[in-house]
Amino acid sequence: MAKRYRVSVIPGDGVGPEIAFPVLGVLETLSEALGGFRFEFLCLDAGDEVKRRTGVALPEETLEGVKGSDVCLFIAVGETASEVILPLRQRLNLYANVRPAKTYPNVPHGRPGVDLVIVRENTEGLYRRVEDGTEDWGVSMRVITRRASERIARFAFELARREGRGRVTCVHKANVLKSTCGLFRDVCREVALQYPEVGFDEMYVDACALRLVMNPGAFDVIVTTNLFGDILSDLTAGLVGGLGMAPSGNIGDDFAIFEPVHGSAPDIAGKGIANPSAAILSAKMMLDWLGEKRGAEVLERALIEVLKEGRILTPDLGGRAKTQEMAEAVSQKIREIAEVI
Ligand code: NAI
Ligand code: MG
Repeated sequence: MAKRYRVSVIPGDGVGPEIAFPVLGVLETLSEALGGFRFEFLCLDAGDEVKRRTGVALPEETLEGVKGSDVCLFIAVGETASEVILPLRQRLNLYANVRPAKTYPNVPHGRPGVDLVIVRENTEGLYRRVEDGTEDWGVSMRVITRRASERIARFAFELARREGRGRVTCVHKANVLKSTCGLFRDVCREVALQYPEVGFDEMYVDACALRLVMNPGAFDVIVTTNLFGDILSDLTAGLVGGLGMAPSGNIGDDFAIFEPVHGSAPDIAGKGIANPSAAILSAKMMLDWLGEKRGAEVLERALIEVLKEGRILTPDLGGRAKTQEMAEAVSQKIREIAEVI
């Protein structure tokens, strides 16, 4: 009997729906071609458009729908991003933000040889938004706890072990921020001792930014606090060709939301030309998380084939294809790969 996964889908605003439906088509093709698993998609409203209609960006039915599903695929919303994705992450306790950056063939501005993962703590740090201020001063409190640091460090080492990655680098600024970064670093060191088969080192965040630009191939897994992870992961997205190629996952102990890093891209919305790769790679991460390793592999391989051939690409990749056409090209490759294996 084929496994059945209930996937909640939030298409969102702007290019969100233009990407969501073609990518769901690719996932349908994948389950048909490979067999063994099926999807039941539940599309839910969230974002600017629903706020305009109803006054709330994240309706209660959406939250309930997400909670009742096995996993969520979120594409992109507009100005209400912080009213949608932040509460979802918090309410569902998705404490790890995972952002792989990998070089794919033929992608403009992509640096060769990059294959790294940033594991960013998603619940505390400066984004706890404990703030105060007047016209003349402002203060933001940075909250770092042993519990959250240990959880994220363990997550990074487990990921390294599972994916056969050799090294975890803890990125911090403990020379200046002793009580917060110092604690984070110490906890990472303690956790590292429990994973002797995975290498461990440390780097200051400023030195890390420099090294990422000079020699990104030297990195494997980076584990870091919320704000540092936010900034460094945009940098690494830039190293592999930008937002059209950057997937991510928000992962907790028993639920996860996968989403492209990009937003609703209002400058190209309505034209049907958004690059579906970031969403396809997010779906690939989703399949991995569900335990569908073969599905994940075939999906990624199909995308790689389309990129390699270079015939059917969206404008940001140097082509002239529409989102739908590129997604169909990926579906076609999936069918070809499935026939051979
Ligand atoms: P953005 O990611 O939407 O766009 C930045 C640039 O990248 C634009 O030039 C856009 O055309 C391009 N781009 C993005 N995705 C692309 C794709 N798939 N294919 C080809 N080109 C792509 O970020 P921006 O412009 O800063 O924000 C636009 C809106 O998105 C804002 O309302 C913002 O709040 C929201 N946003 C939502 C996020 C989310 O839903 N998680 C994340 C980031 C921004
Ligand atoms: Mg960001």
